[in-house]
Amino acid sequence: MKIMKAKDYDELSRKAANIIASQVIMKPDCVLGLATGSSPLGTYKELIDWYNRGDLDFSNVKSVNLDEYKGLTRDNDQSYYYFMYNNLFKHINIDMANTNVPDGTEPDSETACSKYNAIIESVGGIDLQLLGIGHNGHIGFNEPADECPKLTHCVDLQASTIEANKRFFASIDDVPKQAYTMGIQTIMQAKKVLLIASGADKAPIMKAAFFGPVTPHVPASILQLHPDCTVVADEAALSQCDL
Ligand code: GLP
Repeated sequence: MKIMKAKDYDELSRKAANIIASQVIMKPDCVLGLATGSSPLGTYKELIDWYNRGDLDFSNVKSVNLDEYKGLTRDNDQSYYYFMYNNLFKHINIDMANTNVPDGTEPDSETACSKYNAIIESVGGIDLQLLGIGHNGHIGFNEPADECPKLTHCVDLQASTIEANKRFFASIDDVPKQAYTMGIQTIMQAKKVLLIASGADKAPIMKAAFFGPVTPHVPASILQLHPDCTVVADEAALSQCDL
């Protein structure tokens, strides 16, 4: 595992975007695993700049997103489909037919998850998976648990996750209680993993995830076992790590 320290959020966003850009340049028809949350916003802005400069072509790129809230429609401004469209896809030349997000409107979890697993398989797996990290160590929406679910599954969001994500909703009652998320095996099978983290509030979990034991109670800790995982984080997020 490689840990790259950036001085602040802007620098980490540039470093992360450069890694993703190099993936797209080296393999123009690559499969990008994409993430939502506030962490990747700067990275997506940088990628849009790369595209606007004429230095990056997404026309043959395919994407699979990590997760989606169960019950939210694509046009709900808190759905992850909406997030991806507005913060990245509409600004670049990716073919929307090549973008994939779990279907939050499918009420039957088994159908939604098996369809998404089939999509991931049909694109041939993920070349580069971008991840953020939750305060409890979740990746995607893989919450701390006694075991790691392997494939796409429906999760009951933990109270701390609902609390952390309520800032995006009108009230805490509006935060969905469940989500569909890619599983840990799928994430671990990505050829490359890039995890980004910013801010002092992430410092304790960064220490636990990357310097503590590998345990499903800190889902991100399993990335210590990935053969090609890069962590890009700012000084504040790494402030409790001995580097
Ligand atoms: C959500 C997403 C995760 C994301 C996490 C952290 O729960 N499902 O994919 O990594 O939030 O978000 P942020 O980057 O806003 O701290």
